[in-house]
Amino acid sequence: MKKIIVIASVLISITVACKSKKAATSTASTDSSMDAQLTAVNTRFPNTTMEELKKGHSIYTGACTKCHGTKDVTVYTEPRLLEIVDVMAVKAKLTAEEKQSLIKFAVGVRATSK
Ligand code: HEC
Repeated sequence: MKKIIVIASVLISITVACKSKKAATSTASTDSSMDAQLTAVNTRFPNTTMEELKKGHSIYTGACTKCHGTKDVTVYTEPRLLEIVDVMAVKAKLTAEEKQSLIKFAVGVRATSK
């Protein structure tokens, strides 16, 4: 019985450790960082709304994680990122509108990451 408790608690701590690691490395956004992103995106794509950015975020954490985890979009130059998104949007079967929201979100994350 004791053994089972030890094994269970080890498993739980591993699970918790993995979860917190994931949260730390993801580019998931809080509302205040999204405000900064919206400001940054609007210098590139005027009239972008918070709603669009949130849609982009949910695509990024949803449809874009079907085959792999959330990829760090800040490690690429913007032209390279747009090339990758061209390929990935097809893989994720995004509509033109969804792709545009995702691009705006990714550009916002990149612009506010430094
Ligand atoms: C149908 C499966 C699939 C979907 C859906 C998908 N990807 Fe990918 N993605 C891949 C594969 C396969 C690779 C290459 C292997 C890897 O890096 O994991 C990849 C690689 C990547 C890379 C690294 C590319 C590089 O050259 O460094 C990025 C960034 C990326 N995906 C972003 C996205 C984004 C953003 C979305 C949502 C629009 C998305 N992916 C949706 C399959 C997919």
